[in-house]
Amino acid sequence: MSELLKLNTKYLEKYIAPHEMEAMKAQTMLAADTVMNKTGEGNDFLGWLDLPVDYDKEEFARIKAAAAKIKKNSDILIVIGIGGSYLGARAAIELLKSPMYNSLKKDTPDIYYVGNNISPTYLNEVISICEGRDISVNVISKSGTTTEPALAFRVFRDIVIKKYGRDGAKERIFCTTDRAKGTLKELADKEGYETFVVPDDIGGRFSVLTAVGLLPIAAAGCDIDALMEGAALARTDFAKPYEENDAYKYAAIRNILYRKGFSAEMLVSYDPSYQMMTEWYKQLFGESEGKDSKGLFPTAATFSTDLHSMGQFIQDGTKLLFETVVDIKKPKADLFLEDDPENLDGLNFLTNQNMSVVNHKALEGTVIAHSEGGVPNIVLEMADTTEKTVGYMIYFFEKACAVSGYLLGINPFNQPGVESYKKNMFALLGKPGYEDHKAALEAKLGK
Ligand code: PA5
Repeated sequence: MSELLKLNTKYLEKYIAPHEMEAMKAQTMLAADTVMNKTGEGNDFLGWLDLPVDYDKEEFARIKAAAAKIKKNSDILIVIGIGGSYLGARAAIELLKSPMYNSLKKDTPDIYYVGNNISPTYLNEVISICEGRDISVNVISKSGTTTEPALAFRVFRDIVIKKYGRDGAKERIFCTTDRAKGTLKELADKEGYETFVVPDDIGGRFSVLTAVGLLPIAAAGCDIDALMEGAALARTDFAKPYEENDAYKYAAIRNILYRKGFSAEMLVSYDPSYQMMTEWYKQLFGESEGKDSKGLFPTAATFSTDLHSMGQFIQDGTKLLFETVVDIKKPKADLFLEDDPENLDGLNFLTNQNMSVVNHKALEGTVIAHSEGGVPNIVLEMADTTEKTVGYMIYFFEKACAVSGYLLGINPFNQPGVESYKKNMFALLGKPGYEDHKAALEAKLGK
């Protein structure tokens, strides 16, 4: 097992006895075999399993070329997408580069994300930021019909065409969508925009290592070869037997705790650069497991800031959650804290050491306080935040999620619940074909 990511279960001793882990072995391996042998429900969405070694190398080269072109001719890249067509790219960029990426001195374009909400205020702000600057657009939608990104694309396509002409737009609009079908694919082919593929057998929330994530990530200047290398290493490691497999053990632990009444998992990190990764995790596990009135509720916090908001509840409130704490061993940058001979602020007990040591003591102190206070703590030790480690971690969560979902007895790869809001929204907006439903909803609204 690689040193890039390690599961530390030492704080769980009070909550899970060794025989309980042993007792979960058979069930977990059955769930794992269901994934590996592709015999379970949703088995046509397992393309992510071998993706780190079995991906389209020609397209991979085109992704790098497109990223280089965007870097050369654009100050801003507009990334349009929602859910699985958005979160992974942003999460990886913020973790690999910075949550303040746009403010960094760099030779890559600023990146703004639109089409992940329907706020006119937000869209107007991004439009005004783009004024007088060169832009490119990467619109990402597997179905090609999702309302939020489709609407934002209509607005930005118009901006690009007005600024650069129809021919110029061909150099600046990149469409990531289905290989053959959908409105976006048809439009792209008609207009001559370069297209990238969301493979049929990979659902949105498992698609970060396809063109969905890779083009924005490459455009931000990240090393996508190393990202795939880390994922490929994880693919080998997380196919190992239960005893040596942290992804399987993590899936087992989550299900043991769930069955003991812990109904929510809080993914905790001690670095704001990890915050969007927790959003990606929330979608991955929430959309995969929240079905048939079952599933752990995935939530997240960034410490120490959230210790000053949620810390009280976690320590003393209703005992409904366990924490999975991401412990980044080597931060991207450290800060040496100098001694102050006057010590007017009384902080010399913190000095003469790197700030990461202080952050780590906060982690250790909190893990002990919470686990002694009735909140089980799993620790995920992450070596660093380089591309290789991040690729490894992404695959870890994907594999654990699939196994955990089958252990729970649900299909981890569909999302039937997402359709309900869409149906109501379309009806209320008067989309053709929804007339009867519109009347029923308006009656409920008293209109
Ligand atoms: O994970 C999923 O399947 C969803 O989050 C989708 O990615 C999201 O709804 C966007 O869909 P699409 O890429 O078809 O626009």
